[in-house]
Amino acid sequence: MSTRTLIRGGLVVTAADEVHADVLIEDGRVAALAAHGSDAAAGWTADRTIDATDRYVIPGGVDAHTHMELPFGGTFASDTFETGTRAAAWGGTTTIVDFAVQSVGHSLREGLDAWYAKADGVCAVDYAFHMILSDVNEHTLKEMDKLVQEGISSFKLFMAYPGVFYSDDGKILRAMQRSAENGGLIMMHAENGIAIDVLVEQALARGETDPRHHGEVRKALLEAEATHRAIQLARVAGAPLYVVHVSAEEAVAELAAARDKGLPVFGETCPQYLFLSTDNLAEPDFEGAKYVCSTPLRPKEHQAALWRGLRTNDLQVVSTDHCPFCFTGQKDLGRGDFSKIPNGLPGVENRMDLLHQAVVDGHISRRRWIEIACATPARMFGLYPQKGTLAPGADADVVIYDPHATQTLSAETHHMNVDYSAYEGRTVTGRVETVLSRGEVVIDRRTYVGRAGHGVFTPRSTCQYLN
Ligand code: URP
Ligand code: ZN
Ligand code: ZN
Repeated sequence: MSTRTLIRGGLVVTAADEVHADVLIEDGRVAALAAHGSDAAAGWTADRTIDATDRYVIPGGVDAHTHMELPFGGTFASDTFETGTRAAAWGGTTTIVDFAVQSVGHSLREGLDAWYAKADGVCAVDYAFHMILSDVNEHTLKEMDKLVQEGISSFKLFMAYPGVFYSDDGKILRAMQRSAENGGLIMMHAENGIAIDVLVEQALARGETDPRHHGEVRKALLEAEATHRAIQLARVAGAPLYVVHVSAEEAVAELAAARDKGLPVFGETCPQYLFLSTDNLAEPDFEGAKYVCSTPLRPKEHQAALWRGLRTNDLQVVSTDHCPFCFTGQKDLGRGDFSKIPNGLPGVENRMDLLHQAVVDGHISRRRWIEIACATPARMFGLYPQKGTLAPGADADVVIYDPHATQTLSAETHHMNVDYSAYEGRTVTGRVETVLSRGEVVIDRRTYVGRAGHGVFTPRSTCQYLN
């Protein structure tokens, strides 16, 4: 039976427009938008009407970088697909793109099937996958082609983490050459991991074991160098490139220079680099471990370049790199040796709110908020216009957002399966009120009414900025 939902009276904000419009939803999709008060909208009837007066009506967020249950440093990221996608919904994100992991010595297929199994039947909102390539060889290069056809059209390579995920320049070049042929997008973790490991060893030998040294050894110049090298390798291969979790001003400059040359090079940053800094890594009593991630947090001075990059489109996407590890029992694996602290921060629930705060603070406009958090990640990873916008035919992934409510972010109240908040005690203006995923209400005026298994795997086309 056909169900019709009507969202009345809100300000519809997309990457392109801001308009007082009513939204009609039918069978899980946006059926029509019409000016509020127009004859067309007045004539609509529905089974359910949601009053959005004084609220924004925005597309559900698309978080293109999460790591549910990622194995790392002898433990696993603490959010499962069930808890992580529920937290995503609470935070107004209705699609995640998670990283399936290929382990060395295994096929992409094995890694991908393990990820399908983890997510199957438990997700609250829709999900898609990228593939981490840890072992580039003749077989896995061929497998890349098949994955692109299956809707896994992006591949992460690591210039960091020697002995774990690391690929040398030759392997990177081969994977890029392959993606130039098959339409896949290479996503790069750009840090010179070989040089960093030398600096780690030297720091530990000097007795520098505290979390703040994580930030000191993973130097901005080694992020910039790797970013530059990745860009040159992509040029040689004739492939596009997407650099993940950019944190250093010098790396933004490399991306900007490449884009000024007209190269198909893209960059993503994350809320932690925009709102946190090495001051957090230096918090006493090992509290800095809560902020250990790679690329690392940088001195505050880098933030201006990241905001500028987001405004000038030298950076196009803000994702979370959500990769939570509990302070007790996980982060503390690295007491006495910062290099053993599992890398990653929680954030899937906080991204839309923190970026709205950036609107309030004047860093970005309202439409740019939606562009970098919804529309561009959807286009970048082949999900647009099914995801990332509100237009006839799009999935009815809709957030009713209260721009005036204030909230204090805290582990006491968040829904991520992790025992701390990276933003503990921070008050922000704006709050998710109601969330629909493909027309079904998942959060109803701040009550979770969704269900595990509503979210489905969503195959992706190739990057929509290249054709
Ligand atoms: O520290 C991080 N970013 N952990 C997750 C893995 C990665 O490199 O994205
Ligand atoms: Zn990474
Ligand atoms: Zn990541």
